[in-house]
Order: sequence, then structure tokens, then C-alpha cells
Amino acid sequence: MNYFNVFPRWPIEPVRALGCKIYDKAGTEYLDFYGGHAVISIGHSHPRYLAKMTEQLQMIGFYSNSVQIPLQDEYAEKLGKASGYPDYSLFMVNSGAEANENALKLASFYNGRKKMVAFQNAFHGRTASAVRVTDIAKYWTSHVMNLETVFLPWNDIDAVRETLRNEDVSSVIIEGIQGIGGIIVPDPLFLQQLSRVCSETHTVLIVDEIQSGYGRSGKFFAHQYAGIRPDIITIAKGMGNGFPVSGMLIAPKFQAVHGQLGTTFGGNHLACAAAIAVLEVMEEENLVENAARTGAYLMDELKKLPQIKEVRGKGLMIGLAFEAPVKPLRDRLLFEQHVFTGVTGTHVFRLLPPLCLTNDLAGEFLHRFKKILNS
Ligand SMILES: Cc1ncc(COP(=O)(O)O)c(C=O)c1O
Repeated sequence: MNYFNVFPRWPIEPVRALGCKIYDKAGTEYLDFYGGHAVISIGHSHPRYLAKMTEQLQMIGFYSNSVQIPLQDEYAEKLGKASGYPDYSLFMVNSGAEANENALKLASFYNGRKKMVAFQNAFHGRTASAVRVTDIAKYWTSHVMNLETVFLPWNDIDAVRETLRNEDVSSVIIEGIQGIGGIIVPDPLFLQQLSRVCSETHTVLIVDEIQSGYGRSGKFFAHQYAGIRPDIITIAKGMGNGFPVSGMLIAPKFQAVHGQLGTTFGGNHLACAAAIAVLEVMEEENLVENAARTGAYLMDELKKLPQIKEVRGKGLMIGLAFEAPVKPLRDRLLFEQHVFTGVTGTHVFRLLPPLCLTNDLAGEFLHRFKKILNS
């Protein structure tokens, strides 16, 4: 049987990884400035994470949500404290798209409305509602087109006011920082006004922190730079450091109703152990502060490079916009300098290293990047 060929892949086979480094079959060492697409938060193969996962697996790895799983409460309590949302509830699923799908559903259960609002260049995942609020038409299938969706211009509060005026929109979904859209940070004033208009019109505000959350921006959540409190926050990626786990933080105004949401795998023992280990390491090693500090250093240094048109982002979620397509540079960086990076669109590099990145490794990246830019 062949693997269904929907991904282009690099001709590299990683077999081992540690911290911010990856090693391929031939033993070549790579610097990981991609984090497996913003997933690696505490670093590859962290000993504390390995120990917790191994210990849990030796006791019980999985049982369904038909039994008591106190690890879910332990994780919820830790997450509430770490994120600044101790009064919210947690619901766990398995992937980013699934978290957004559940958030959009919960909004509709809550206010009985069906229309969804999202923003130009948004990416929210590949399940039906999540893909419908993703502003990439080639990902849509005809069967999702019945889901009524409006895409609004970024940072345009008048357009939001006009669209929500009739009080028939169920939810507005927005990324904490747009990732696939090109590392675009929202204007804090816009987020504050958006939050107010949503609450005035009883529209549910969902902030997708799947890529920008979990410390990546230098705060636990990127929307905390604007001081807003969304109705639902979705999380995934960095939450499990590679174990597939996601979830939503749900404001107290939502009442849990048996049967409205469900999941077989969500919140299982091993997923909780992964999520708890990640939070423990983040706290012990001050990784949110580290992302802010190392990210600021990296961005300051990158701004000195004349070849880069614009450096944008927050913390360790950094976009580098170039005048020309970046693929040739990215390939050279990977194959000649052995550095993994991401791109968005054709002209923007995306840097998403593990949050444990040190200044030394940031310096090593700058050294290798300059070699490519200057030759
Ligand atoms: C902002 C955002 N939302 C949702 C998703 C979808 O996550 P997943 O691929 O885990 O379904 C992604 C993935 O890249 C993302 O960046």
C-alpha cells in the first residue's frame, strides 16, 4: 500500500532529535527553526517529558471518557493558572482543526445562529467548518459551501460592526497572530473593539491560538497583548510537544450540556500526561519569558539585515518578508546550512523554533542565514 501523496516532502529522514536539533539517517545535524510546524514547544525529547510519558504508558495509556480521568482535572487546573484563565472550562480533542470545529459548533449551540465570520487570509484547519472559515478557496469542497461564512478585511472594525449589526452572526473566529497568512499581528485596538462589538451583539468571539498560543508569542496567548478575554480560545500544536492533543478554553457563560460535544480519544491519559509535562517544563524553565527575550534578540538582529524587506511577529513566531520568492534561499539554508525553516506563501520565511531556544543557537542561526544571504 502507498501513502496517499498529498504532501510535498524534503528528501530528509530524521531519526533522532534533541532540544533544538534534529539528526537524519546519515547522522547530519540540523538546527530546527521550524519546530515541526510550531509544534515543538519545550524542545525535542525533553527528559522530563519522556519520563512522564513512559511512566504513564506503563500504568494506563488510554481509556475512553466513560470513566473518571483525574489527569484531565489536574491538567485543567495547571492550564488555568499558566494561561490566566482559571475560571474557564477545558474540553480536549486531538487536532487544531477539531478544536476549531468544536468551538464553532459550541458557539452555534449557544446562540442558535449559523453565520460564521472570519478574516481575509485566515487559516483554521481542514474539517468542514474549520476549512470553510479558512480563506483559501482551493481547500473548499462543494459540500462545505452551504456553511454561511463572511470574510472581512483584517483590522477593519467598521466592516465588523456592519456585519454583526443584525445580530445574526453566530461566531467570529480570528487567529491570535495570523500564521499561514504571513505572520500578521493584529492591531491591539482592533482586537479590543472586536471583543466589544461581539459582546454587544451576543456574537461568540473565538480566538484561534493554535499556532500563536502556548507561549510562542512571548505571552501565554498572543491576544493577551491586547488585554481581551475571548469567549472561546482554541489550542493545539505546542500543547503536547508532538503528542496529538488539542482543546478549547471555554468562558463561564457557556453551560455544559451532556451529548452536545463528544470525542473518543480526546483527553485520554497519555494526552493529559503529555500536556501536563509540557506545562511543568514551561514553568520550570520560564519558556514564555524565554520566547519573549530570545525572540526580541533575534528580531533585532534580523532587522539589521538589508536583504529583508520586513521582519514581523512576536516572540518566537517570526516572519521575514522578502522582495523575491524565498524558496531558493530556503532550500540552500536547508541543504547547505542544515537549518529547518518554514515559509508562508511565496515571499515570507516563517521561523517557529522550540521555545527553549538559547541566544547562542539564535546566533548560530543568524550566522548560517547571513552566509546564505551574502553568497
Ligand atoms: C492557526 C491554525 N489553526 C488551525 C490549524 C489546524 O491544526 P491541525 O493541522 O492540527 O488540524 C493550524 C495548523 O497549522 C493553524 O496554524
